[in-house]
Amino acid sequence: MQKDVHPSARQESTALHFYQNRQLELYASKEAKRLTLRQLVYFGRHINQERLIKSANYVRTELPVRIAHRLRDLQALPYVVVTQEGVAKVYELYWSAFEKFRRYPPIITLAENEAFCEFVNTLLNEHATVIPNLSLGLSLSSPHLPPDTLDSFMRRMLVSRISRRVLAEHHIALSESYSGRNQESNEEPHVGIIYTGLSIKQIVEHCDKLLRGTPVWPNDLPADALPEIKIDGHLETSFAYIREHLEYDFLHTFISFMLNKISRYIIFELLKNSLRATYIKYQNEASRRPIQVTIVNGENDVMIRISDQGGGLRSARNQVSKPSDLFSFSHVRNSTRLEDSRLGALRSVSLSEHGLRATVDEQIGSWQKGRTQIPTPATAVVEQILQPTIGIGLPMSYIYATYFGGTLELVSLDGWGTDVYLRLPKLGTNLEGIEV
Ligand code: COI
Repeated sequence: MQKDVHPSARQESTALHFYQNRQLELYASKEAKRLTLRQLVYFGRHINQERLIKSANYVRTELPVRIAHRLRDLQALPYVVVTQEGVAKVYELYWSAFEKFRRYPPIITLAENEAFCEFVNTLLNEHATVIPNLSLGLSLSSPHLPPDTLDSFMRRMLVSRISRRVLAEHHIALSESYSGRNQESNEEPHVGIIYTGLSIKQIVEHCDKLLRGTPVWPNDLPADALPEIKIDGHLETSFAYIREHLEYDFLHTFISFMLNKISRYIIFELLKNSLRATYIKYQNEASRRPIQVTIVNGENDVMIRISDQGGGLRSARNQVSKPSDLFSFSHVRNSTRLEDSRLGALRSVSLSEHGLRATVDEQIGSWQKGRTQIPTPATAVVEQILQPTIGIGLPMSYIYATYFGGTLELVSLDGWGTDVYLRLPKLGTNLEGIEV
């Protein structure tokens, strides 16, 4: 039975709601101050105290604007969607973050910046399950939303989330290097989270190595039964980019997995798909069907083509009418979205946050000590998440690729294989996606 609420308390809560919504409107009416990759590098290159404080206050005032835009978006959804499992959780997380940022006082000193970085870091962790929650909620909502509406909503949510995390993580990284922490002598040149001389060839080789050592494959599969990855083209190509958007950093991703963040990045994801498709099609003969990666250093863009002979995209599992449907979150375009196994896997990833969090330190500690072998529970987690059940790796890769103006296209040679074309602007002059 519902408890009686004292009339004055009810009045107070209505007034509070009204006030909070007015605040939301105020922030949502502001335009985001979008940045380019180049601006992020230039500003951070010669960091000093004044710039660091400016950067902190930019993050402090910019993030609530971007969150307000998405809260408005969530409010505009039909009621049947808002009440789906997962969506309400994301809405609450965003309201809470919005309120905290809005009230955060201006940052003036380095000590205040340090406290601010801690505050932002806590929020980054708290938001670890946003993607699986959203993905679950919107999959369940798929029958209630036209595919275009669903896909454009998801795109705005995800682009905006990437943008907020880029700004937050970049500021934290700048603060750490300014204070002298996180200074490993053998580190590659970088400004904040942007690596200024990223070699595509090295990224492909690194992903190849990690994929062979990752328990995505049946236990008894010898690594050399997997197809070889061959690289040709302009092997010297390097450019400035956010490495984490392209590559899979094992320690980072391991920690992320333990915190239930789904961190799969473009090149790792694409190579994984090619290796898996080729392996499944040819089993032990797979090693004779290499995957060819071609790198082209264009005037304005870096282009990467990944060609495999894994049979193409119109396999029994992928009942899509065109390759780009694989990027869709709607069951109308991609029937796997409502598969029970996928929903179940998403549910367990979305909900297990608290249970896993308690074991994180212990797991990371033992993994770091041993370093040669991943502890068994981690293997289980990695294995579970690397299975194609959750199915957001490809749409996420698409969003990452297009975030700074790149493109990602799939061409299926049905019955033969798939060619994937990834184009990334290399001058860093494109603004972040407009949906922030
Ligand atoms: C997110 O991860 O969704 C965020 O908005 C992170 C931000 C609050 C720091």
